Amino acid sequence: MAQLWGGRFTKSTDQMVYDFNASIGFDKKLFAQDVRGSRAHVKMLALVGVITEAERDEILAGLDSIEADVNSGKLLITSEYEDVHSFVEANLIDRIGDAGKKLHTGRSRNDQVALDMRLYTRDQVDVTTEELEHLLGTILSIMEEHIDTIMPGFTHLQKAQPITLAHHMGAYFEMFKRDVLRLRDIRVRMNYCPLGSGALAGTTYPLDRNMTAQLLDFEGPTINSMDGVSDRDYLIEFLSALATIQMHLSRFSEEVIIWNSNEYRFVEIDDAYSTGSSIMPQKKNPDIAELVRGKTGRVYGALTSILTTMKGIPLAYNKDMQEDKEMAFDAMETVQNCIVLFDGMLSTMIFNKDVMAESAKNGFTNATDAADYLVNHGVPFRDAHGIIGQVVLYCINKGIAIDNMSLEELQAISPAFEEDIYDAISMETCVNKRLTVGAPGHDAMVQEIKACKDFLNK
Ligand code: ARG
Repeated sequence: MAQLWGGRFTKSTDQMVYDFNASIGFDKKLFAQDVRGSRAHVKMLALVGVITEAERDEILAGLDSIEADVNSGKLLITSEYEDVHSFVEANLIDRIGDAGKKLHTGRSRNDQVALDMRLYTRDQVDVTTEELEHLLGTILSIMEEHIDTIMPGFTHLQKAQPITLAHHMGAYFEMFKRDVLRLRDIRVRMNYCPLGSGALAGTTYPLDRNMTAQLLDFEGPTINSMDGVSDRDYLIEFLSALATIQMHLSRFSEEVIIWNSNEYRFVEIDDAYSTGSSIMPQKKNPDIAELVRGKTGRVYGALTSILTTMKGIPLAYNKDMQEDKEMAFDAMETVQNCIVLFDGMLSTMIFNKDVMAESAKNGFTNATDAADYLVNHGVPFRDAHGIIGQVVLYCINKGIAIDNMSLEELQAISPAFEEDIYDAISMETCVNKRLTVGAPGHDAMVQEIKACKDFLNK
């Protein structure tokens, strides 16, 4: 048990209490951030004259050697220490003696952990943003390749109107684009440095908080020291953004699972991204998509957990806040893995264009256009709707598509049908006449793709 605070105690801590209280098992993830924060802190302490330049150099060299040894595996971060902050400080004192005891001058573990968590989260925001931008690139290339690939669009999972694969992908582009924008927003709002808030009320040392903020690439210091040590809003915002990303991935996964089913066969998942069955030799399962969908639960769980932990905490720091870490770390790693795996699965997936086109054709997806045709031939829309309803019923009974009916058959239902009906309800016409902004028609999609490219600066 290596503790920083034994002075006012006459008994040692009960072992179970020590274990329950310790966070080293999970906050060791913050090691790099902890060292980075300490470097900035001692540089500032020397500049404002709280420690000498010689002491600063000794501390910096000590931190360098600890970091090198941890990175090489020579020094292990073990449960002998209460938390990562104690680990670094104890090892520093071990290595350089008295100068090491000055590292914590004008600092509390409260502002230290607030800083470490913020630095770590900021890094994760950046990694997640990059991964999402890569996924957007994958989606964009599918859009470009499949601008004329016709497929059925669905509502209620029932075939509705023909669209294109580019159009369908474009919807996901928008979702992940908003996710990127959300992350960029969060980054701006969170980018203030809590170091120098002390335990809660700042410090009597003449710390230059602007300087540490600058050394750590923050916009500036946080304004209020009580808030500085007890704010975890940025983490809640990030977890909320992660939950939304995961929800988007989950919807997309659900579609891949449906499209990959024997009944649909719209796509074929690459062997590298599928798995087999131990008993049924014919199986090729979409496990990756299912797992991405399934992991949504733990990501939502992390958001609910932090919101619940924070809800009853009076100002300023309380130990409850140590619970901000484990589930958050898990959610960050989970979402990042899901983005990368989904991206890989999507970029290697084969789209069965013929099956998609055939499916659009056989699902009466041109029924709306057939009704619109009648409207253009003078039939009021409500009557046209009824006539096409009859046409569809006729086709269902005969097991054919509207396009397969002869003109005589059509005219027997309504004399308004003429020879040009076939062209008017072809899949190509149905799609390419839809030219409102955001619609699947070729010329509208060209514009949409251009906007996507602009977003990615491609
Ligand atoms: N392990 C603690 C945490 O993660 C570090 C801060 C401890 N501060 C304290 N006053 N006990 O929140």
